[in-house]
Amino acid sequence: MLADKRILLIIGGGIAAFKSLDLIRRLRERGAFVTPVLTKSGAEFVTPLSVSALAGEKIYSDLFDLTSEAEMGHIELSRSADLIVVAPGTADLMAKMAGGLANDLASTLLLATDKRVLVAPSMNVRMWEHPATQRNLATLKSDGVLFVGPNEGDMACGEYGYGRLAEPLEIVDAIDAALSGGPLKGKHILVTSGPTHEPIDPVRYIANRSSGAQGTAIAKALAALGADVTFVTGPADVPPPNGVRVIKVQTAAEMLTAVMEAPASDAAVFAAAVADWRVENAGPSKIKKDGNGLPTLEFAENPDILATVSKLKKGRPGLVIGFAAETDDVIANATAKRLRKGCDWIVANDVSPATGIMGGTENDVTLIIADGSEDWPRMGKDAVAQRLAQKLVEAIK
Ligand code: CTP
Repeated sequence: MLADKRILLIIGGGIAAFKSLDLIRRLRERGAFVTPVLTKSGAEFVTPLSVSALAGEKIYSDLFDLTSEAEMGHIELSRSADLIVVAPGTADLMAKMAGGLANDLASTLLLATDKRVLVAPSMNVRMWEHPATQRNLATLKSDGVLFVGPNEGDMACGEYGYGRLAEPLEIVDAIDAALSGGPLKGKHILVTSGPTHEPIDPVRYIANRSSGAQGTAIAKALAALGADVTFVTGPADVPPPNGVRVIKVQTAAEMLTAVMEAPASDAAVFAAAVADWRVENAGPSKIKKDGNGLPTLEFAENPDILATVSKLKKGRPGLVIGFAAETDDVIANATAKRLRKGCDWIVANDVSPATGIMGGTENDVTLIIADGSEDWPRMGKDAVAQRLAQKLVEAIK
């Protein structure tokens, strides 16, 4: 998709600027042409020579460079690309863009261009969270500027949070998506998410601590790669992502119906924490304290949605991914669960209370596939989602 596309890459001044070298390499591997523009502060972090050597092209950095202007004026430069990418996108560059400043080559190109602009922000977490940056972000989004990242994690400055530059491959995917609709364009993917609520009576229910954060992040990551996502969600704490088809359900039985009625899918990710049991004697009236002793709840097992879909003879998605929420012997239990349920991959996680994973913002997962497993470091649920989405792209392309 990237072959013969021309990317104008603006490299801002940040510690993550070194990753732009890898980004250039990845883009060129895919057949894209990269015209690099290095800001004055960007040149404090990477050298013009290394950028230009990797890009295999002349580097632009000065608005008043007469030779460059004679060869290709800055207006023409801003129009000659298929897409403008700003990586790393610093707080300063975002502020200039939001304010319409044009006091150096990079900001002038960004103001003069008629092409789409994709920004990969990178900065200290406090700078990212500052109301000024968030205001600029909102302005730029409403101007139609595209964003990839920032990711959550440890920062070079020793702090932790959102502000890390997206990984080069994520930026490549975002570029691909911006230019062509993404590597998952034309693919339909089903995602289940959130807890289910199993009624005891009309006012009470049995539930679990799932917030829906991981499933929502997965749906968002897949949609960002161009997939047509059907998102079947129980009553989650987090709102469903934009750009997906949302089907809201309450119970496991409703979730099964919604899943079976969803359009045929190329892949399915079962991130929902489905209740294993429902109350079979749930009645239409509120159970009263009527002095006749404690109520007795009778349980029935819920249908296993993941196993049902994994074992479909007709219409089974090409790739079925389940989750395994375990508190003991995580890998052994999850490995057995993969075989028992018949899915292709299992994302195993330890949901013991001490891990803070269930209902939290981070996850610590092991991906179990047919011939082995991969231990992923603890990271934000968004980062887990992006990594899983990348793997899925490779598996179903
Ligand atoms: N799952 C499902 N339908 C169910 C139960 C679970 O689709 N009725 C799916 C979940 O979405 C998840 C996977 O099965 O992808 C494993 O869920 P988990 O709760 O870990 O496993 P259980 O089936 O509950 O097994 P156990 O009680 O033995 O841990």
